[in-house]
Amino acid sequence: MTGKDQMSRRPLIAGNWKMFGRRADLSEIRALSAATTDAPSDLELAICPPVTLLAAAVEAAAGSRIGMGGQDCRAGGDGAFTGDVNAAMLVDAGAVWCIVGHSERRQGHGETDADVAAKAKAAMAAGLTPIICIGETLEERQAGQAAAVVQRQIAGSVPADAPSTVVVAYEPVWAIGTGLTPTLGEIADTHAAIRVALADGRQGAEGIRILYGGSVKPGNAAEIFRVNGVDGALVGGASLKAADFAAIIAAHPAAARR
Ligand code: 13P
Repeated sequence: MTGKDQMSRRPLIAGNWKMFGRRADLSEIRALSAATTDAPSDLELAICPPVTLLAAAVEAAAGSRIGMGGQDCRAGGDGAFTGDVNAAMLVDAGAVWCIVGHSERRQGHGETDADVAAKAKAAMAAGLTPIICIGETLEERQAGQAAAVVQRQIAGSVPADAPSTVVVAYEPVWAIGTGLTPTLGEIADTHAAIRVALADGRQGAEGIRILYGGSVKPGNAAEIFRVNGVDGALVGGASLKAADFAAIIAAHPAAARR
């Protein structure tokens, strides 16, 4: 099912640790670094730990294949914003990626598409590559609105001048942390709808990677990676343990080709 056009996009497998992890869990980063030294060079690997662990995780992964990222950033420069972290601070801690617009931020913190676009711009301006998250709720999918919702989110959340290096993560809200996933056909259809929306007025949009996220596990990763238009995965729970995340990485066709 791998489409010809996606062969030119470098697959990315990223882990989102969310609000999990203590310094003791840096051993998982070290184990993952060791387990992925031989991962195929055409695979890109990332972990977004909680910000408390970011600098230490960068150190733990030094010399490895794994780039570190933030999970959110405030749009703007330094200032009197208690509790916030901006993109320049993430760069200072050694990050190269930043997740923006995760549904847990959209739903839990009221972030709008415009907020997400501003954060993506701020991340890019600081030198980070944003991973811009979108995805429909169960009600929206059941109402037949999944494609329309993600297309609207793309239009509002991905800056019109975004370069082809930005990454989009399609994460159906109802698939996050539930063990549920869309059918492979639904994933293919939604990724195709996202690609159509990305192409609208954006130069080089065919180079933008679209990851799938939501209950990706060692047991289903291989079939998801083979879906046409899937350029990698954003993995939550299964990225916390090096053995699970390494198994997901090993399930990518790029690894199987070796
Ligand atoms: P799970 O893989 O735990 O479902 O989480 C997905 C996610 O939200 C990644 O950002």
